Amino acid sequence: MAVFEITFSPTGGTKKVSGIIADVFCKERTYIDLVKRDADFSGISFQEEDYCIVAVPSYGGRVPDIAVSRLRQMKGNKARAILVVVYGNRAYDDTFGELRDVLTEAV
Ligand SMILES: Cc1cc2nc3c(=O)[nH]c(=O)nc-3n(C[C@H](O)[C@H](O)[C@H](O)COP(=O)(O)O)c2cc1C
Repeated sequence: MAVFEITFSPTGGTKKVSGIIADVFCKERTYIDLVKRDADFSGISFQEEDYCIVAVPSYGGRVPDIAVSRLRQMKGNKARAILVVVYGNRAYDDTFGELRDVLTEAV
């Protein structure tokens, strides 16, 4: 079993929250930065027994488009996901539901 911390966090707030949550699971994990534009996300795949902490900010009540397209490139292989949404105290609207749908489709 491996733990992956996957975040889209341009200004660092989402990463701070995902780090606190990931620390509860284990100190050793692989960090995947969805902000990195030169990364080959299509080469990333998980195993069924893995845990992926997936954290995104809410932009306009949605998952940021670029995070969606990068998450869609990875192969979930039925790994378990822990969803985290960070927002600026307006509302997160559909962000959780959209993130759930994207990750469900990635199996
Ligand atoms: C383009 C944009 C759209 C945002 N839309 C929302 C929103 O709809 N609701 C909300 O509560 N916060 C909204 N925020 C605030 C972010 O969700 C919040 O600041 C978040 O912590 C930023 O994450 P980061 O620090 O990891 O980059 C928005 C921020 C940006 C930059």
